[in-house]
Amino acid sequence: MTSLDTWQFEPYKIKMVEPLTITTRAHREAALRDAGRNLFGLRAQDVTIDLLTDSGTAAMSHQQWAAMLTGDESYAGARSWFRFAETVREVFGFRHVIPTHQGRAAERILFQTLLPDSAGAVVPGNAHFDTTKGNLEMLGVRAADCPTEEAADPARVAPFKGDASIAAVEQLLRAGNVPFTMLTVTNNSGGGQPVSMDNIRDMAELARAYGVPFFIDGCRFAENAYLIQQRDPKYASTPIGDIVREMFSHANGMTMSAKKDGMANIGGFLCVNDDDIAGRARQLCVISEGYPTYGGLAGRDLDAIAVGLREVLDEDYLRHRIDTTAFLVDTMADRGIPVLRPAGGHAAYLDARTFLAHLPWDQYPAQALCGEIYLEGGIRGSELGTVTFGVDATTGVERPATWELVRLALPRRVYTRSHLEHVVDTVARVHERRLGIGGLRITEQPRVMRNFTARFEPATP
Ligand code: F0G
Repeated sequence: MTSLDTWQFEPYKIKMVEPLTITTRAHREAALRDAGRNLFGLRAQDVTIDLLTDSGTAAMSHQQWAAMLTGDESYAGARSWFRFAETVREVFGFRHVIPTHQGRAAERILFQTLLPDSAGAVVPGNAHFDTTKGNLEMLGVRAADCPTEEAADPARVAPFKGDASIAAVEQLLRAGNVPFTMLTVTNNSGGGQPVSMDNIRDMAELARAYGVPFFIDGCRFAENAYLIQQRDPKYASTPIGDIVREMFSHANGMTMSAKKDGMANIGGFLCVNDDDIAGRARQLCVISEGYPTYGGLAGRDLDAIAVGLREVLDEDYLRHRIDTTAFLVDTMADRGIPVLRPAGGHAAYLDARTFLAHLPWDQYPAQALCGEIYLEGGIRGSELGTVTFGVDATTGVERPATWELVRLALPRRVYTRSHLEHVVDTVARVHERRLGIGGLRITEQPRVMRNFTARFEPATP
């Protein structure tokens, strides 16, 4: 008998349902072939359990839907804007808030503001997300990933594998031409792993010592804060809201995609303390996103985010969220499936390099594994390996990516435990027949961000 303080069930009940499509294997084979074996090319209706992303896919709460009805659609100075801005200031503690239509727009505006003429510069961080990298590279700036050594081993269990290597960041700072540094919490490209408070503080002190600002990409800030509370004894009894305030008190500003821990289906923002940077960022916002009290969002979206940013701090919600990810990761690990450990925040990451150890890197094991999981159980994950990260931005040369992962990302409040049991069973069946799985070759690819549109066929027919 489970007592209420050790419950395992979802801390919400369902009042609206969306039927899942149940497909046959033959249907999935045809769909995957038509999509060029790239799961981004599938119609969502051909997917049963969609773990492509946790971004913009949350189920909103009844309070969020109710708040949307109170949305004020005035062009400037809407009531929704004040509710949104006040919440963001309270949760994160920055002075200036600039809304954007999603996270990557916040990145673009921040980087264009900070880097008017910085070709050849380097921005170090733990591991930049691909849009962050893309926005830096557009300005001729190199995004340097500086993970710690322990993060390189997917099987190694350590509490804060999202940390940046302070030594590696300092080496770049010492070499000069670093306009600012960044940390991404949690570290999405490196396995959804949390960043420790100590690492945030060390990064801030280092940046200060070299006279450059330090920013946080805060997409999954609440998951990171909860993992700090769970894994750092110093914070075991600190409320999540206080941990969040402390995390961001070390930074000069942040970028945010409200599609993650904002619990909303669209939206983002940028925060800074510096008046001059804020002024210039607002100019860019007007030109490209919209007037700075709506930033490309409807008033109702601002209200949904304002409510979501408070809901995400709820410890019952966070406990269930993180326990769910741990259930998925630990159950797969128990069944001998190579999965990145320990469980992080928003996703389980399969280690395709070990899973399909018989395939060479240039037959894209993670991409091949994504296809097989879809064929087996109608589940859509995403490739975070050589297809996504394998082309050197400066030379255009393809080489194996640091990690070769399949990410099974969990939309917030969408799937239940029994859906995840189906995911585990599916991956286990694919694992049993892994030696019969062949690799892929690319038949078509664009010059940048090829993971979204590249097409594949079996490497050996
Ligand atoms: N930073 C991180 C760490 C992200 O994970 C994302 C998006 C962004 C920035 C960009 O935000 O999508 O609102 O423009 N990640 C999604 C994902 C797409 O699936 O991981 P956005």
